[in-house]
Amino acid sequence: MDKKQVAIVGAGISGLLACKYCLSKGFNPVVFELESDIGGVWKKTIKTTRLQSPKLVFQFSDFPWPPSVTDDFPTQQQILDYIRSYATHFDLIRHIKFNSRVKGIRYDGPSSDTWREPFPPEGKWNVTVDDTQTATTQVYTVDFVILCLGRFKDVPNIPDFPAGKGPEVFRGQAIHSMDYAAMDNNTSEEFVRGKRVIVVGFGKTGLDIARECSSINGRNHPCTILYRRDHWKVPDWSVWGIPLPLLYLNRFSQLLVHKPGEGFLLSLVATLLSPLGWGVSKLVETYIKKKIPIAKFDMVPKESFSKEARSCVLCYMPDADEFFDAVEKGSIKLKKTPTFTFYDKGVLIEDDDTRIEADIVIFATGFKGVEKLGDIFESSTYRMLITGSPRVPLYRECIHPRIPQLAIIGFSESISNIHTSEMRSKWVVALLEGAFKLPSVKEMQKDIARWDEYMKQSTGEHCYRSSVCTLEIWYNDQLCKDMGMNPLRKNGLLANLFEPFLPADYA
Ligand SMILES: Cc1cc2nc3c(=O)[nH]c(=O)nc-3n(C[C@H](O)[C@H](O)[C@H](O)COP(=O)(O)OP(=O)(O)OC[C@H]3O[C@@H](n4cnc5c(N)ncnc54)[C@H](O)[C@@H]3O)c2cc1C
Ligand SMILES: NC(=O)c1ccc[n+]([C@@H]2O[C@H](COP(=O)([O-])OP(=O)(O)OC[C@H]3O[C@@H](n4cnc5c(N)ncnc54)[C@H](OP(=O)(O)O)[C@@H]3O)[C@@H](O)[C@H]2O)c1
Repeated sequence: MDKKQVAIVGAGISGLLACKYCLSKGFNPVVFELESDIGGVWKKTIKTTRLQSPKLVFQFSDFPWPPSVTDDFPTQQQILDYIRSYATHFDLIRHIKFNSRVKGIRYDGPSSDTWREPFPPEGKWNVTVDDTQTATTQVYTVDFVILCLGRFKDVPNIPDFPAGKGPEVFRGQAIHSMDYAAMDNNTSEEFVRGKRVIVVGFGKTGLDIARECSSINGRNHPCTILYRRDHWKVPDWSVWGIPLPLLYLNRFSQLLVHKPGEGFLLSLVATLLSPLGWGVSKLVETYIKKKIPIAKFDMVPKESFSKEARSCVLCYMPDADEFFDAVEKGSIKLKKTPTFTFYDKGVLIEDDDTRIEADIVIFATGFKGVEKLGDIFESSTYRMLITGSPRVPLYRECIHPRIPQLAIIGFSESISNIHTSEMRSKWVVALLEGAFKLPSVKEMQKDIARWDEYMKQSTGEHCYRSSVCTLEIWYNDQLCKDMGMNPLRKNGLLANLFEPFLPADYA
């Protein structure tokens, strides 16, 4: 049999996993990576970044963390080393073309509404790649494309401002967190030392940068976090001794909520048990409110904990006491506002006419992942198919029903992105080897619509943020069934019902 050529774009965790599974089934993968090394987001982060999911949850299914990594939340360097040893162990590096930026991909084949075959004889993709070292361009013709571009890198999201009221009028420096993360640790420390910093955004990046600034500058030069919405901050991975995975990552917890495509019986069970689901959420919220003074600082989110967990907007806040101590002592200031503008000396909050003077503004406002994904397509039609809906419409969070011979891995989030990318890689490669066929376009669209509806009904304001978060087991069940794998990965009814499902269970 001739080996089918698969182009994988990106050598972060998702691209490496896609490559490993392609090789395991005899495909011929070529991975294009724009940088000179593997690891994606883990290649360089801000100094204090660690894993925020415990390593038991965040690991390759068949490649455990080395015994030398004893902390439950490894550092960036430990994570990068782990990724590197995985790539070496499975001999992936020689399949990667580094310094290779994929400029665009173009489909060459019949336009069709019904793609079900991964390798129809007449369809190919042309992948245009710039070699950033030699400044040459080459076009590769391949049978299938797997996009593993990542979502939290490369294309910064910076809010729009009215003309004359944006960073251009600010006399200090305004940068994105991406630029701060790219600095080496000494440079970033010197960059903020003795400066009044405003961090815009209170996701995990905003939180971590503010902590770095406050530990460098103390009260003399406070760091202000300017943000528009509260999200649950998680100080521990257990509440009163009950591990969160027992409350949200086992099969029983999924019986307490409605699920997309669940059928009559499961729907009835979810309705009957929903008061218990509500109780679990309240239990966690009560614990958090007791543990950290979010009520005192007006930081209690509008949405319930469970709702936020479903759209993956929670953020882990280790050493929360230190953070609130910094707030108490004034080295971190919190300012909530839906909007703000710039003036020459800092930012202006028009609602209450507050002016905050600053030397540096750091936008920790996330990334334009959808735009980055859409832009890789040369065809404006395909671009629109990606960017034109509120939520990127992917069947099994991997396949666009109308974009043939192509899969996307690593776009939709979960609590453990390494695990989710591994399950998706297995699933996509099973599709490539013909272990199952895709349903019709109509059926795929129906399934996507069911997930859209679920997200709208059961999550908060971030319902369009692609994620499977607390429905990970339910989601994995679908993948397992497609692949002909038993979704019940444990021995015995009680274990299957109550034990958390971890990556190693799917090895
Ligand atoms: C600071 C930070 C901390 C995180 N912490 C956690 C955590 O604790 N737990 C968790 O589950 N998730 C976490 N995440 C989410 C994280 O994104 C995933 O864990 C995972 O590493 C994503 O891997 P990826 O391969 O899908 O994407 P990326 O790591 O973004 O890799 C994408 C790769 O594609 C390459 N690329 C992009 N465009 C092109 C192109 N046009 N041509 C060629 N190559 C291209 C990039 O250079 C990059 O190497 C974190 C994210 C960030 C930013
Ligand atoms: N392991 C770790 O320790 C670690 C560290 C950093 C990041 N991460 C992960 O990396 C991913 C990206 O995190 P991130 O914090 O960079 O981005 P993010 O989670 O997307 O958060 C962006 C923040 O910016 C705000 N924001 C966005 N647009 C805005 C606008 N126009 N005006 C004002 N505020 C705006 C958001 O507010 P709203 O909520 O109101 O939209 C939010 O507070 C996440 O998955 C995160 O968990 C992990």
